[in-house]
Formats: sequence, structure tokens, C-alpha cells
Amino acid sequence: MSELVKITIDDREIEARVGDKLLWTALENDIYIPHLCSIKDEKRPNASCRLCFVEIEGVDHPVTSCTRKVEEGMVVKTRSQRIDRLVKTGFELLLSDHDLKCAQCAANRKCALQTIAKERRIKLRQKRFKLIERDYEIDDSPAEFAYNRSRCVLCGQCVWADREEAKVGAIGFTQRGINRAVTTFEEIPLADSICTECHLCVDACPVGALYYKSDLK
Ligand code: FES
Repeated sequence: MSELVKITIDDREIEARVGDKLLWTALENDIYIPHLCSIKDEKRPNASCRLCFVEIEGVDHPVTSCTRKVEEGMVVKTRSQRIDRLVKTGFELLLSDHDLKCAQCAANRKCALQTIAKERRIKLRQKRFKLIERDYEIDDSPAEFAYNRSRCVLCGQCVWADREEAKVGAIGFTQRGINRAVTTFEEIPLADSICTECHLCVDACPVGALYYKSDLK
């Protein structure tokens, strides 16, 4: 049995397993922290979405809760002016090149972006950053699902499912910066790639980038 430590999150005392990450301990105890890129079993989280910031007593800068392990006596706050500002900025940046036609999206009402917006009271349509409209062609070559790159938030959940769960390796990240994308090798249609159409990547997508055609009304 794993050793337990006592920590406090938002004034609630919680027992946590030694070695567990703060984000997952909070979520398991029904304390919501925004997150998109974290994968529970991943040994070294890449912390790319920058949404899971918290404050830890005695640490002078906000930390990403998906990378921080719990420690005996840790006192954590999931909300503060500093945290709220950081999360809002990260979220707005993320939305600045996201296709926000929610009504036409297969993930409408079950999208992680909508959950975060609601919980943090952040508008999905914001004005702070110039909206970069991208109109990538939708890859609807697989029989039952499709990939709309304009809706991808680069969280990496699909890449993990494809590599670590399905053990296929059909998709991965390509390019850097603003052109970073999830795609197949040489950007060929999924049906022409080594994709086995197992659907694990579709099930892992927290937004409407990879979606079942049958979910489109
Ligand atoms: Fe921590 Fe994305 S969940 S940075």
C-alpha cells in the first residue's frame, strides 16, 4: 500500500498518496483545476497547456499542478488573483486560433474548453488577442471519425493514446511555434497512414478536433 501524506487544498485537508501529482490528487477529491494536457500515467508531463497553475505556501511563484508532487504539510490554493490572471491569459491565447463554431462542433456541451470557460467565468469569444482564423481541410478519410485541425488545442492526449495505448504511432507533433500541429507522417490522410482506426485517439480528444461523424448533428 502506498504511503500517505496530509495536504491542504483550498482549506480542505486531504490524504494523498506519496508520489502523486497535485493535479490528480485535487481532481480525485472533486477540486477542479483547469487542465488539458496532463495524462495521469505520464511520468514526465510536458506541461504545455499552462492552465493548471496553483499557489503553494512558501513558494513564491505559481506552479503547474500537473508536474508538482504532493508533499507532507503542503498548503495549496487553486484560486488567487495571480492564478486567475495566469489561467485567463493562457486560456485566451489558446482560444485565439481555435475554431469557435461550437454549435457546429461534435463536442458541443462536452468540450473541455467549455468546462474551463464556465468554471473560470471566462468568455470563449474574447477580444484581447487577435483571432487567427485557420481553415484547415478536415480529414474525414477514416470510416467513422474525422480530424478537424482547426479545433486542435495541441494537448497531446490523442498522440499519447495512439502511441502508448494503441501502440500504433500513426500521429505525432510536427513543426514548432504557431505552426505546431498534430498530424500523420508527411501529413497524409489518416486512412492512407498506418492508423488502424481503433478510435482510441478520438476517445482521448477533450475537444472536438477528433470526433465521430455520427456525433455531428
Ligand atoms: Fe498542467 Fe497542462 S495540465 S500544464
